[in-house]
Amino acid sequence: MNSPAKHFLIPVLLVGLHAVTTVFAQSPQIEEKIDSLLAKMTLVEKVGQLTQYSGMKYVSEEMIREGKVGSFLNVRGAEAVNRLQKIATEESRLGIPLIFGNDVIHGYRTTFPIPLGAAASWNPGLVEKAARIAAVEAAAAGTHWTFAPMVDIARDPRWGRIAEGAGEDPYLGSMMAAAQVSGFQGSDLSDPLTIAACAKHYVGYGAAEGGRDYNTVDMSERLLREVYLPPYQASVKAGVATLMSAFNDLSGVPASANRFTLTHVLRDEWDFDGFVVSDYNAIGELVNHGIAADKKEAALRAISAGVDMDMVGDTLAGGSYPAALAELVTKKLLSDSLLDVSVHRVLRIKYRLGLFKHPYVDTVFYKDYMFARAYRDSIARQLARESMVLLKNEHNLLPLGRNLKSIAVIGPLANNRHDLAGPWSAEERDEEMIPVLKGIREAVSPGTKIEFAVGCEIKGNDKGNFGEAIRLAERSDAVVLVLGESKEMSGEAASRTCLNLPGVQEDLAEEINKTGTPLVIVLMNGRPLTISRIAAQVPAILEAWFPGNQAGNAIADVLFGKYNPSGKLPVTFPRNAGQIPVYYNHLNTGRPPSDEKYTSRYIDSPVSPLYPFGYGLSYTTFNYSNLNIEPPVAKIGDTIRISVKVKNEGSISGAEVVQLYIRDRLASISRPVMALRRFEKIDLAPGEMKTVAFEITTEDLSFYGVDMKKIVEPGMFDIMTGGNTTALLTTSFKLVEK
Ligand code: GLC
Repeated sequence: MNSPAKHFLIPVLLVGLHAVTTVFAQSPQIEEKIDSLLAKMTLVEKVGQLTQYSGMKYVSEEMIREGKVGSFLNVRGAEAVNRLQKIATEESRLGIPLIFGNDVIHGYRTTFPIPLGAAASWNPGLVEKAARIAAVEAAAAGTHWTFAPMVDIARDPRWGRIAEGAGEDPYLGSMMAAAQVSGFQGSDLSDPLTIAACAKHYVGYGAAEGGRDYNTVDMSERLLREVYLPPYQASVKAGVATLMSAFNDLSGVPASANRFTLTHVLRDEWDFDGFVVSDYNAIGELVNHGIAADKKEAALRAISAGVDMDMVGDTLAGGSYPAALAELVTKKLLSDSLLDVSVHRVLRIKYRLGLFKHPYVDTVFYKDYMFARAYRDSIARQLARESMVLLKNEHNLLPLGRNLKSIAVIGPLANNRHDLAGPWSAEERDEEMIPVLKGIREAVSPGTKIEFAVGCEIKGNDKGNFGEAIRLAERSDAVVLVLGESKEMSGEAASRTCLNLPGVQEDLAEEINKTGTPLVIVLMNGRPLTISRIAAQVPAILEAWFPGNQAGNAIADVLFGKYNPSGKLPVTFPRNAGQIPVYYNHLNTGRPPSDEKYTSRYIDSPVSPLYPFGYGLSYTTFNYSNLNIEPPVAKIGDTIRISVKVKNEGSISGAEVVQLYIRDRLASISRPVMALRRFEKIDLAPGEMKTVAFEITTEDLSFYGVDMKKIVEPGMFDIMTGGNTTALLTTSFKLVEK
């Protein structure tokens, strides 16, 4: 091990300084209690607070009594939680309560759309309501702390965890992050109807090379600060209680040992006062990364960088902090003041959660305060409706008539309960999931005949059921073909090199389409899919992601026009995997793609994506006009007011996501061709026109200059607005020095 002195002499000073400044920002009562408790704690008890175990696999009740456990994950249910909490608070020397964390990513018992789908709603208010429901359901079952929101920006759909975040844009991602933090945490963490949130995976995890999970991440500080950090900063500004440090290395320094991000940015720049938990044995994995000779050095590097708690996981190795921290302190390789800072942070969140006063789950309380089932289902249904993106609707095939004589419902996901929840569901119950077939049956008139055929499985090459499906399609008035991925094909450790529909699903679509019966494809998937083949053939495609409990009802609502689809893509859909990474807020390059040979293009594919970021059709059409900007010449520091008129020109009411993009035409650093800065979702009745007004500040025009200082430069800026990134009204304004 290198001489540790240089490792953390400075950190101790900085951390010490930071701790002092932070103390004054806290509630004095809590800080005093923490200080007096800390003074009584032994070294073993302090290390215990920094240790989280996954269930009881490698933990004895005696370890809890000895104060060697601060937290659990994967313990669910009020009875199990209260039993372990009783040992900690009534049978240990100091009675410090345990904090129980779980992955409540998109619902607990009520399952909402996967976060990528929820982001497609562009409705932060509704996302917040869903998070609040999840918080209450989880709290009632003993969970104090969720490992959510996942706020990793992702530009690579080969990465299965793109399903868990809000897609490719830092502004939309920031809005969704803040909404979830507020939904989970409310305004008072001690409120039993709230749980602590955890922004993860800090940081850069979504930029894994090749879209291969846990793979190398290497990026400039500018890209880190302008694209990957903003949703974390938004989470901190929203008051997030914790962050989770990621598995990946970040430009050579693993995220779970990265002082620059964990202390310099998170603590010194953002003044974050919660605690950081590592991802599952991410500290122990520093040895694999090759920056720690053993778990002792791994522990030293992680805590010196700013990781407060070791999510030991169920590794036989028994984790790093519990195995090494005490020895590091007794051998003076780690200062006890640095250890105390981490313990202080963990105790601070436990106090804020009210765990010292109310350590047990009061199940009777939740009987009165659980949201009504009808309310939870209504929010789940509405978010599922608003998450859906209409990708294609030739000849206005949709909405389908409810009085059709016969509708064929076909496909491996048409009468499927298991996959509707998507990856990272929690405590959903299959019997509470509503498949597409059921939703359609309940939506149509009694005279409409609904028949089902599976057609094929999600994976595999078996076409044995094609015939039955084709014959059903031939004798039906319309076909709803539900295709996609299984829930296991996205999420963690689910990277794919080929993003086509798996198995023989595309062949099935082609055969069904050949029957000539009007065909609607409904997609259920956790990532953008390269569906160019079917997109070229079939008349209508609805992206439904994994919609959760209310899947069948929400899909039927959209298919039959009870809800006019309003979703917009939070992530670009490539034509093929070879285009990846392809995203909207790219730089212009010195040779922007064109028909000219020597430009940034492919010889075997268009450069443009299949469907762009921000794209989504409606059953009506919206017209944009009168884009105005005030003042046309603005000074640095001014507020710039933008307005645009939006009219519903169709005969169906609908919601439109009015998007506002900027472009800095000329700057000292190359700037994206467009960047989302505002959006507003509005409802418009047929013929109705509304004026949508936005305000931006020069902060919205800033970027990181050549010396990595945030700056705003005078010059010409384009303002673009519309319902997607390819059909935009544009104007411009001039920014001048003060
Ligand atoms: C997993 C995931 C993380 C999750 C944690 C606990 O490996 O990376 O997102 O919260 O472990 O389950």
